[in-house]
Amino acid sequence: MRAEKVGILVISYGSRAAAIIDALSRSEDYKVRFYIADKQKNPFNAKHAAKHVVIPDLDVVKICEFVEANKDEIDFGLCGPEQPIIEGVRDVIESKTGVTMICPTKRYAIEGSKVAQRILLDECCADANPRFNVFPRADYGSVRAVKTAVWQFLDEIGDKVAVKPDTPAAGKGVGVWGDHFTNREQLFAHFMSIFDGGSDVIIEEKVEGEESSFQAFCDGKRLAVLPETRDYKRAFDADIGPNTGGMGSYMDNKDWLPFMDKRDREEVERLVQKIFNKLRGNGSNEELRGIPFYVGFMHTANGAKILEINSRPGDPEIQNVLPVLKNDFVDVCFRMIEGNLSKIECDAKATVVTYAVPMDYGGYRVKFSGDKRVDLSGAYALQEQYDDNLRIYPGSMELREDGHTYALGSRTVCTVGVGENIEEAREISLDGIRNIDGALWNRGDIGAKYHIQKSVSRGGKGSS
Ligand code: AMP
Ligand code: GLY
Repeated sequence: MRAEKVGILVISYGSRAAAIIDALSRSEDYKVRFYIADKQKNPFNAKHAAKHVVIPDLDVVKICEFVEANKDEIDFGLCGPEQPIIEGVRDVIESKTGVTMICPTKRYAIEGSKVAQRILLDECCADANPRFNVFPRADYGSVRAVKTAVWQFLDEIGDKVAVKPDTPAAGKGVGVWGDHFTNREQLFAHFMSIFDGGSDVIIEEKVEGEESSFQAFCDGKRLAVLPETRDYKRAFDADIGPNTGGMGSYMDNKDWLPFMDKRDREEVERLVQKIFNKLRGNGSNEELRGIPFYVGFMHTANGAKILEINSRPGDPEIQNVLPVLKNDFVDVCFRMIEGNLSKIECDAKATVVTYAVPMDYGGYRVKFSGDKRVDLSGAYALQEQYDDNLRIYPGSMELREDGHTYALGSRTVCTVGVGENIEEAREISLDGIRNIDGALWNRGDIGAKYHIQKSVSRGGKGSS
């Protein structure tokens, strides 16, 4: 059978888009022509694109102009990063060009407000919602007034809290008691840095335990769940240092993680289904199409608690899943559009993603003024040795006119190892990293045995 031709728009930011493009390009039933709206000239994307445009701010209007100019060749579009989704990229593209988008509409870009999420969760799964209070900027006329209110709330729930901006800050605006501050004055300084930055602030009870990330595709009628993954948000080994976009992640060879059991997994599925039921209403709500619920969970002694909900694929978490997807990914996309999504099957393999990042990322070096050139050819050469079990996804790096590739400011490139178990997958991922030539650094303990054992010995449960 000859593969059917299909044109797909991909809005790209980071390695996540390379993983999406890779999965789509492996379709056996469809031959894909890619139309890529990119933050920069990502070398992987540029190689795969039929048409490639660089839009550094990923402005929705400019993306829409690119789609308008190519709409006759584009069957549908996918959006990886949150910002265009929050700004209504689906609404604009669908209404102006008629091209169907796979991502939630602006109304259902649930990650746009942490406050709105908490209110929604109170309505549909209060047990999984840590206690919280909102401090709207408009409500307080002076620093003294807001400080009094913050102190009052801390008197009520205790000092062990997380302080967050209402609006998304890529996980980096969040401050947690014991990690980022250890007394009220420091806590308040963090609070004020967000407040002065222009966002309302939410303070919530600190929940302790083990984290997992849940993702599911959605066609508006049902969720097709993906295996649970574990992200490493902290910059340095042993989970110390500032929060980052995610330094790596692992997935086991089954639907749940080593520190979870089947019941824990059923619990998180049940909770997400409740959120979905609430937003879907009785029948179907195609405005939720895409990955509307990428949910960060904390598994505690008192059950699973929700840390946050995002309305897009996780980076790096989706890189764990797509390389082992058994379904044809183009077919999954058509099913999301047509409303006949069925179960997603993955190979029973573990995967480990490790990110290599610039020297000054996460504060590893205060400054780096050396050469930013990165050569991935050694890592690509290794791919053959590992068959398809090593994937290399360039992120924040660009191909320049001199024909070389250079690291930019954010996470540069990730390697995905696929193995029978986490240990094997980790070795492959690290081998890929070792063969990258460039001034980059990485965490060495993503999916490490000692890390997983620690999570398992805590039974996945913390003290709260
Ligand atoms: P978020 O962007 O809301 O996911 O927060 C980033 C990270 O901060 C999470 O992955 C957690 O490690 C931590 N965090 C967020 N909220 C809480 C909370 N209520 N209790 C403890 N840790 C939290
Ligand atoms: N892994 C963090 C994020 O995608 O938000």
